[in-house]
Amino acid sequence: MRIDIVTIFPEFFSVLDVSLLGKARERGLIDLSVHDLRDYAHDRHRTVDDTPYGGGAGMVMKPEPWGEALDATLVAASVVVFPSPAGERFSQATAKELARADHLLFGCGRYEGIDQRVVDYARTKATVREISLGDYVLNGGEVAVMAMIEAIGRLVPGVIGNPQSLSDESHEDGLLEYPSYTKPAEWRGLEVPPVLLSGNHGAIAAWRHEQKVERTRRVRPDLLG
Ligand code: ADE
Repeated sequence: MRIDIVTIFPEFFSVLDVSLLGKARERGLIDLSVHDLRDYAHDRHRTVDDTPYGGGAGMVMKPEPWGEALDATLVAASVVVFPSPAGERFSQATAKELARADHLLFGCGRYEGIDQRVVDYARTKATVREISLGDYVLNGGEVAVMAMIEAIGRLVPGVIGNPQSLSDESHEDGLLEYPSYTKPAEWRGLEVPPVLLSGNHGAIAAWRHEQKVERTRRVRPDLLG
């Protein structure tokens, strides 16, 4: 999978060199490039924002640098993602859909957002998704894109060594994950649930399922519909 990120803060993404995604990049599973939007601004101050038409607070990102950045990175098969608190809600299902794309292009907005014509223009060239991480406002799209790339990248075949660990986790079957324990069997007076030490695989599976349902009902009843 190829991933391009356009941002005014390229240094934000240096953490993608480490951990599982760093290894996936080393192994050639994910080919990731970060582009500085200011490289596409040609005035002396490399200006990327201006005041909003119609008035109002804050600054809006100008279309011209974005147009050049898109022209340099976008292909017809691209899925262009603009993170925005005004977008559709990101979920595990979204991550799965995006993990099937050959090319993802993330456009990180700052200030009050990007001139809407940039999104409309990108839509004439490729598939565009405006996606929100959740119902809260971040200062810009960078942190949201980092979270999305982590969620998507681990679903790319080969990135996670044991694919079983993907099917056992939260949100895979609409339920939250069961609690996990490791050795020692007793720690500071707290014991591991005895069923997990029983060796009875049927009983363990049944207990885990009960835990998932109970936890989901308690913490996220909205998921049970
Ligand atoms: N940019 C600012 N807030 C955001 C959010 N909640 N999700 C995605 N991008 C954002």
